[in-house]
Amino acid sequence: MVERVVAPKLQEEDVLFESNLRPLNLRDFLGQTKVKEKVEIFIEAARRRQEALDHVLLYGPPGLGKTTLAHIVANELGVKIHATSGPVIERIADLASILTHLNDGDVFFIDEIHRLNRVVEEYLYSAMEDYKIDLMIGEGPTAKSMKIKLHKFTLIGATTRTGLITSPLRSRFGVDLRLDYYTPEEIERILNRSSRILKVKITDDGAHEISYRSRGTPRIANRLLRRVRDFAEVKADGIINVEVAKSALEMLEVDSLGLDTVDRAILAAIIEKFKGGPVGIETISAAVSEDKDTIEYVYEPYLLRQGLLAKTPRGRTVTSLAYVHLDLKPPHGQGGLFKD
Ligand SMILES: Nc1ncnc2c1ncn2[C@@H]1O[C@H](COP(=O)(O)OP(=O)(O)O)[C@@H](O)[C@H]1O
Ligand SMILES: [Mg+2]
Repeated sequence: MVERVVAPKLQEEDVLFESNLRPLNLRDFLGQTKVKEKVEIFIEAARRRQEALDHVLLYGPPGLGKTTLAHIVANELGVKIHATSGPVIERIADLASILTHLNDGDVFFIDEIHRLNRVVEEYLYSAMEDYKIDLMIGEGPTAKSMKIKLHKFTLIGATTRTGLITSPLRSRFGVDLRLDYYTPEEIERILNRSSRILKVKITDDGAHEISYRSRGTPRIANRLLRRVRDFAEVKADGIINVEVAKSALEMLEVDSLGLDTVDRAILAAIIEKFKGGPVGIETISAAVSEDKDTIEYVYEPYLLRQGLLAKTPRGRTVTSLAYVHLDLKPPHGQGGLFKD
């Protein structure tokens, strides 16, 4: 089976591996300069006022450092972090129990906050705004509702889908931080840092080669590093140089732009089955047997960013670059750059 390099979900083996590589303070959080500057200022201001930091909403594609940043903020503030995720909080009682256990200044991190259910989400509003909740004491006809005052905590929400955050929830965040794809140079620094931690020898051109194929995503860069390291140990002398990196990535079917087999299947399907598009996302999803949301929120953003795919009101079309990249000829009247 071909390994999924751009696997949408965190694989089990990633979890341990990532926890070793996860930066614990802002200094080690590389790249994202603008976001970092903002975070530094917010943290410093909260420290000076000796107050809880405003609630923070983090958004951006998977693997860019949202969870990492939430932990760093708590670390830098010297407070505890209570981490959970949207779909895990099923009932109001689950949420109330967490909220009442938070201390002054603590960070409450809700990953995938767009997946909170409505009832739970609405219950969160007054907690965020007034640090108060209504608690039901007892059951049945004798049950009473009691107002409880909470400690001033900081909610950090993370999401890959801002479009799914309701406006009442969104308006309760004081700070919005958007993480964007990293530049190859930033990824190179991350690869060098990870190699030091893993005690892997990597040359500059080796790191350079991997950086261009990591889709601007630290999680993918680290994943590729691990795979290339295995390859270097088995097939070479353990040192990752440009030749080793190239051969390993070729074996993993990660191409020069960092596209994996699914990316290429998406482009190829649009070209071969739908004459280059436009074609709707559902149709593409059926053609490549891949979940629609995964295509839309994991694969497509990178293809759009690389200029291989374009969105039109009638669906997705491939660009002339996609034909070049896949080494296919555009049909007549398309991809005007190519006349034969
Ligand atoms: N700015 C960064 N500097 C160094 N490593 C990073 C950075 N951002 C992310 N990483 C690495 O990538 C991995 C995935 O990041 P994570 O915070 O889990 O992403 P997200 O929550 O956005 O999906 C982390 O374990 C960490 O090793
Ligand atoms: Mg995360």
